[in-house]
Amino acid sequence: MIVEPKVREFICTTAHPTGCAENVARQVKYVTEKGTIQGPKKVLVIGASTGYGLASRITAAFGCGADTLGIMFERPANGRRTATPGYYNTKAFEKLAAEKGLYAKSINGDAFSREIKEQTVETIKKDLGQVDLVIYSLAAPRRTTEDGTVYTSALKTTGEAFTEKSLDLKHNTVSEKTVEPANPEELEGTIKVMGGEDWEDWMDTLSAAGVLAENAVTVAYSYIGPKLTYPIYYEGTIGRAKQHLHKTADRMNEKQSAYHAYISVNKALVTQASSAIPVVPLYFAILYRIMKEKGTHEGCIEQIYRLFSQKLFAGQVCTDADGRIRMDDWEMDEDTQKQVEDTWKKVNSDNVRELADIEGYWEDFYHMFGFGFDTVDYTKDVEI
Ligand code: NAI
Repeated sequence: MIVEPKVREFICTTAHPTGCAENVARQVKYVTEKGTIQGPKKVLVIGASTGYGLASRITAAFGCGADTLGIMFERPANGRRTATPGYYNTKAFEKLAAEKGLYAKSINGDAFSREIKEQTVETIKKDLGQVDLVIYSLAAPRRTTEDGTVYTSALKTTGEAFTEKSLDLKHNTVSEKTVEPANPEELEGTIKVMGGEDWEDWMDTLSAAGVLAENAVTVAYSYIGPKLTYPIYYEGTIGRAKQHLHKTADRMNEKQSAYHAYISVNKALVTQASSAIPVVPLYFAILYRIMKEKGTHEGCIEQIYRLFSQKLFAGQVCTDADGRIRMDDWEMDEDTQKQVEDTWKKVNSDNVRELADIEGYWEDFYHMFGFGFDTVDYTKDVEI
């Protein structure tokens, strides 16, 4: 069939298989051209099908020559409904990895569940023996724990209601948005879903099963961002979950020495998870413009290639005083943030196209779903 984008505010309900394959192929090409990294050889990526997790899998495979096992939660096509982009991305990745003679298996199911953890352990035992790197890159709206309780994450403040400029994604205009405070249940839900509990559960499970190689490393992705977005991000429900994730890394390192847990604080980028956060898309668009002008803009693949090649596997792991890897170094650069602040004060509906990279925002957005590639013929029938 002919697949067209169907965009509803911050989500696209269709995905283009050829375009998703193009998205993966471009990331593979980037890594291949950048060159080999002396890094891990057997890698488990939890949340491997889109965004930062997909970029991690691609960097591990095509940069380090690693065998990869990927965990994801994606929907295949049914009838006239396309699959989710992560499903197509994974198919495309597996094909390219196989062409290179690399092992690449994927488990499609709920990473929070015991069943998927056990299936993962069995697969590692059977196919890989052990893994030397575990990437934790889940971004999920909810989690069902083993006693059947469903926790839902919320994107709210933890203090008072917060009103700020926001990008109206329907009209590309600037309007004001108020983010309401979370109630205790919403805060708890967000920490349960996006905090460190499940990561620790994964590492305990893998460690107890003996499938972690000596000196294995695990990395979970986090975000801090500027003061401007603190009320909705770092001091909001999601930030509280990230703070829980950071504390979990410290606790895991204190309680055992079989592996080391790192937090990598990454750059703000348009992904399926992040475009749903209020206020933040306007920050993205302004940041994109400034970082592109400065020549410091990166996408997921550039971030993760730099993480592997310069911070994680270049001898001593590069961390800040709190032990965190800072991939947001260029985003948080003083002059960059000063320019963001100045722009933020001035931006309105009349000048937003000039002051913010609205086109860049939408380009990234469409690319995530396999649309907007000039090398893909979208008028052609495609097998979904
Ligand atoms: P994403 O939405 O592109 O990727 C999420 C991944 O998790 C997908 O592979 C999806 O299949 C998987 N997933 C979701 N629920 C699952 C479940 N129940 N079981 C198995 N797999 C499941 O998100 P993105 O942005 O790449 O986020 C990954 C991590 O990076 C998150 O922790 C996020 O907070 C962090 N991060 C994101 C930044 C951004 O600006 N996008 C910035 C810094 C950190």
